[in-house]
Amino acid sequence: MNNKLLSLLWIIVSAAIPAMAQHVYTVDTRPGTAVQPTAYGIFFEDINFGADGGLYAELVANRSFECPNALSSWQTIGNVRIGTDRPAFSRNPHYAILESSGHAERKTMIENHGYFGMGLRKGMTYGLSLYGRVNDGGTSRLVVQLVGNNGKVQSHDTLTIDGTPWKCYKTSLRSETNDAGGYLRILLVSPDGCDIDHISLMPDDNWNGLRSDLVADLADLHPGVFRFPGGCIVEGADLATRYQWKNTVGAVEDRPQNENRWAYSYSNKYFPSYYQSYGLGFYEYFLLAEHIGAEPLPVLNCGMACQYQNRNPKNVFDANVPVEDLQPYINDALDLIEFANGSVTSAWGRLRAEMGHPKPFNLKYIAIGNEQWGALYPERLEPIIKAVRKKYPDIKIIGSSGPSADGSNFKYGWNEMRRLKADLVDEHYYKDPNWFLNNARRYDKYDRKGPKVFAGEYACKVRSRRNTFESALAEAAFMTGLDRNSDIVHMATYAPLFANANGYQWSPDLIWFDNMTSVRTPNWYVQQIFSTTHGTHKLTLTEDGHDIAGEDSLYASATWDKDTRQIVVKVVNASLSPRTITLRFKGSRSIKPKSALAFHGNDNDENSLRNKSNIVPKDINAPTMDGNSTQVVLPGRTFGVYTFTK
Ligand code: AHR
Repeated sequence: MNNKLLSLLWIIVSAAIPAMAQHVYTVDTRPGTAVQPTAYGIFFEDINFGADGGLYAELVANRSFECPNALSSWQTIGNVRIGTDRPAFSRNPHYAILESSGHAERKTMIENHGYFGMGLRKGMTYGLSLYGRVNDGGTSRLVVQLVGNNGKVQSHDTLTIDGTPWKCYKTSLRSETNDAGGYLRILLVSPDGCDIDHISLMPDDNWNGLRSDLVADLADLHPGVFRFPGGCIVEGADLATRYQWKNTVGAVEDRPQNENRWAYSYSNKYFPSYYQSYGLGFYEYFLLAEHIGAEPLPVLNCGMACQYQNRNPKNVFDANVPVEDLQPYINDALDLIEFANGSVTSAWGRLRAEMGHPKPFNLKYIAIGNEQWGALYPERLEPIIKAVRKKYPDIKIIGSSGPSADGSNFKYGWNEMRRLKADLVDEHYYKDPNWFLNNARRYDKYDRKGPKVFAGEYACKVRSRRNTFESALAEAAFMTGLDRNSDIVHMATYAPLFANANGYQWSPDLIWFDNMTSVRTPNWYVQQIFSTTHGTHKLTLTEDGHDIAGEDSLYASATWDKDTRQIVVKVVNASLSPRTITLRFKGSRSIKPKSALAFHGNDNDENSLRNKSNIVPKDINAPTMDGNSTQVVLPGRTFGVYTFTK
C-alpha cells in the first residue's frame, strides 16, 4: 500500500472512531435503594507476615521463646539455655537462662534480628521491656543495645535484675539513623546470671501496639467493614492449631503462641518461625475497627480444620469435630458476642472492660466458617446458628459458599445457606482480568429474597501475580457492578490485605510493606475510591434503557449521598481507545459539577516501595455543564470518577 493510500485510510478510520465511541448515559437523580455503609471494607489475615512482622509493631521475633525450636530467631553466644521451671507465664512457659562463662573474654549474650531485620528510624525511641529474675535472689546486670546493620551501637542501657520473683524491667533505646537491618543485643555483664522472658521492643509511635503507618493505610481506605482474623488461619492446619479467639485476649504475655497455617505454604523458602504471637488479638482487632470506623466482622471456626490441607479421607475425624462435640465452638461464638457487647458485669464483658474498653464494641455480625464445602459444613453450622439466634437474635450471621465462585460446591453451599437462613453468604474469587470484566453482571440476577452477598475475598490475578494497573482497572470495572447491585451485595472486601515484601508467599496483595515503609497499590486506590463514593443510595444509570456493564468495553455506576448531596458517576473504559460520553441528568435541574478524577495507566504499571506514586489517580478538571448534560472523554484504559452536587 502506498503512503497516500495509507494516509487516506487513517483519516477515514480516525474520523470513524469518535462517531463509534459516542455514548449518551442517562442518570436518574431520584434516589434508588439504600446502600449499606458496609458496602466496601477490608479483610485482614495473618498471611505474608501480615500480623507478626507486619501490622503488629513488635520488633522481636519469638519474644517468648515458644517456637518449637525455642531459640529460633535468636543468635546466642556463651551460656544460654532454655528453662521451664516456675515460669513467668503459665501459657508461655519457656524462658532463656543466661549464665556467665566464668571467663572475662567469653561473653554470654543473645541477639534478635526481628523479622528480616528490625526497621530503625532516625530519632525514634523504642520501648524495651523484659521479664527477669535471679534464681538465687542476688542481682544480675544486663546491657541492652540497639545495633545498626553495620554493627554500630545506636544506644544502650544497663538493666539490673534483682530478686527471685519475676519482674518487668523497662527502658528506652533511641535510633540515631534510618536502618532497615537493625537488631537488639542483650549482654550479660555480671558474674551472676538471670532468667529472662517476653522480650519486647516497640517503636514509640505505635498505635495500640500496631504499626502506625500501616494503620494509616487502613484508615485512609475508609472501610465500612473489617473482616478478621482470616481466612484459612481460622481453620488451622488441624483443629488443635485453629484460631481460638479466647487465646488472643487478656495480658499479651500470657496469650499462648500458635503456629501459623501459612508456615507450610512457602514453596521456595523455609520459615521455621512463622508463628502467631497473638499480640494482635481480638481486643486489638475490635479497637482497630472502631478507630477506622468499620463494622467489626469476626470469623469463627465451625468445627472444621482447613479442608485443603485435610483432603486425605483418613484425616476426616481429626479435621472435623463430631457434631455432638460442638459445644466449645458454640460457646466460642456466644462468648465472643458477650466479650464484644456484654455488660461489664458479665464474665467476658468484664474482661473487655479490664482491657480498657468498658463501652461495648457494638458487634453486629459474625461469620462461622471460612472456605467450607460439602455436607460436613451445614451439619456443624446449623447447631451454631440455632444457639446464636436463640441468645442473640439481632446478630447477623454469615455463612460460606466455599472457595469457588461457581460450580456444584458453590451451588450446594448457597442452597444450604438459604435453608439455614444465613443473613449473608460469603463468596471468594481470585480470578483473571477477563473474569472480572465478564462478571460485572454477576449479581444482576441474584435472588433478591434470599441471603445477601458478602464478597469476602476477591482479587484480580494477572499472570505475573503483581498488583498492576491492569488488575486494578478490571476490579474497578467489576466493582461498578457491585455498586449497581448494592441492594444485594452488602459487603465486599479485597484479599489479602498485606504482604511483607521480604516474606510473602501469596500475591497480589492490597498493601505491601517492608520494615521501614509501605506502598499503596493501584488496587488500593480503586478500593479507596469505591469506599468513599458509594454514597447512601444507588442511582440508575442507563444507555437506551440498559445498564452499562461491558457494552463497548465501558462499565458504569452512579450513586447519591444524601448527607453531602453529592452524585458520583464512575465510568471504566477498559478498551484501548478513547470514549466520549454525554451524561444527561434526569429528575433535577440544578446539577453542578464539583470535581473529577482520572485513574489512567499502562497495564503493567505498578507502585513500589521505592516509587510509591508511580500510578495514582489524578485530579482533572470537573466537566462543564450544558443545561442538565455534560460531556466527558475517557482515554483508553481509564477509570473516571465525576462528582456533582444537587
Ligand atoms: O486470602 C488468602 C486465602 O485465600 C484465605 O486465607 C482463604 O480464605 C483463601 O483461600
